Amino acid sequence: MMPPRKPETFHITTFGCQMNLADSSTLVATMTSRGFRRVPTEAEADLLILNTCSVREKAEERVIGRLGELYRFKKRNPQLRIAVVGCMAQRLGDRLIEMVPHVDYVLGTDRLFQLPDVVEGVEGTSAIMTAFGHENIDSIQPIKETPHSGFVTISRGCDNYCTYCIVPYVRGRECSHDADFVIDAVKRMVDEGVVEVTLLGQNVNSYRHGDISFPRLLQRICYKTSVKRLRFMTSHPKDLSRELIDVMASEPRLMRHIHFPLQSGNNRVLAKMGRDYTIEHYMSIVDYIRMKLDYVSLTTDLIVGFPSETVEEYEDTLSAVRRIQYDSAFMFRYSIRPGTEAAAFDDDVPEPEKIRRLKRLIDLQQETSRKVNRRELGEVRFSLVEGRSRRSPDLFRARTEGNKTVLFSGDEIEVGSVVPIEVTAADAFTLHGILARVN
Ligand code: SAH
Ligand code: SF4
Ligand code: F3S
Repeated sequence: MMPPRKPETFHITTFGCQMNLADSSTLVATMTSRGFRRVPTEAEADLLILNTCSVREKAEERVIGRLGELYRFKKRNPQLRIAVVGCMAQRLGDRLIEMVPHVDYVLGTDRLFQLPDVVEGVEGTSAIMTAFGHENIDSIQPIKETPHSGFVTISRGCDNYCTYCIVPYVRGRECSHDADFVIDAVKRMVDEGVVEVTLLGQNVNSYRHGDISFPRLLQRICYKTSVKRLRFMTSHPKDLSRELIDVMASEPRLMRHIHFPLQSGNNRVLAKMGRDYTIEHYMSIVDYIRMKLDYVSLTTDLIVGFPSETVEEYEDTLSAVRRIQYDSAFMFRYSIRPGTEAAAFDDDVPEPEKIRRLKRLIDLQQETSRKVNRRELGEVRFSLVEGRSRRSPDLFRARTEGNKTVLFSGDEIEVGSVVPIEVTAADAFTLHGILARVN
């Protein structure tokens, strides 16, 4: 029998959060440096990679659905290999191959970078690997996502164990990268033309390497690199310090956006979620942020229908949204994740009621986003030009300091430049503007 042909080309699809996007970029760099060629369509590839998410049931269903569709590729080309990597691979391990037998490789969140070794059959590797361990990860260089922006992962894993959340189980223990590694990664991106870098971690505020805390890391990056725009996410409210806000206030290269998930506006629910802060503490941070920063965009994540959440407790989330006036929010129905602490709680809010609660919350947030965005009318925002608008190609699309999309028209605008834009119109999702003159 002929030995199976070694794959030469690969295609990657990424599900889930920015962590996965960053990991996918790094995996692409690793694969390419080992001689594999990335191709734009699945039909051209010898190896299909799915980098997966487990955070909600729906996220996993989407991956299973996609794998079902990929069966036809495999039938047409038996040499084709399919690799499932990332969070869902970590959670399910060999059970994934039992569920979907046409999957060839299952590599967890700390093993995915070994994919080239596994495909080449390097000794000591196997088709299913889910061991945790961050060894060698500092030596893997991140790459840019677009020519002008990029992600740098500053910490992996999470130790918080919020009762509803699968992330600590699929991403393992929290581990911060060496500050010099982070600084080098930012420098390298800047040398390659990157204007805006986003630092990533499940909880960037608990970053610590030696005696370097997160605010110190930000200061060092600003001091030691010439990066023009720096962002970070996600901030856990229990660890978001005043020192961090003070550093933001003193450093204009730190963009004016803080994503810090509230999850619920009710203290009993927050305690049951294991979030370790109260709504009063959260509000005190919001007040401090607004006192120290003239302009800042605040965004959040919210969950409705957590086990035992009453209508009154849900209403507390609505009032928090009304009071805080977020620029935007990601909103979810509670979804049971097997193995988490909350999976043992009675999931007693009926599905139609969860849907109703979510809809009302989304409506309220949309109305709020429209109002908050309209407050930007007449303001000038320095924005990074990312390209043409997909829907209106005669307009340019740029990212504001507050991480919003702004559309504007102009001639000879260079993609990757930072331009002042005066906001002239706004809806719940997008700003419109004109190029402003600044002296
Ligand atoms: N580390 C971040 C969140 C990462 S997960 C933080 O703590 O803020 C992204 C979001 O998914 C969470 O903020 C939460 O709102 C949502 N989420 C996580 N698990 C969920 C579940 N079981 N059901 C519904 N939403 C969930
Ligand atoms: Fe999940 Fe909580 Fe960790 Fe965020 S902080 S990843 S919600 S366990
Ligand atoms: Fe991200 Fe989903 Fe994993 S949200 S960390 S890709 S479970």
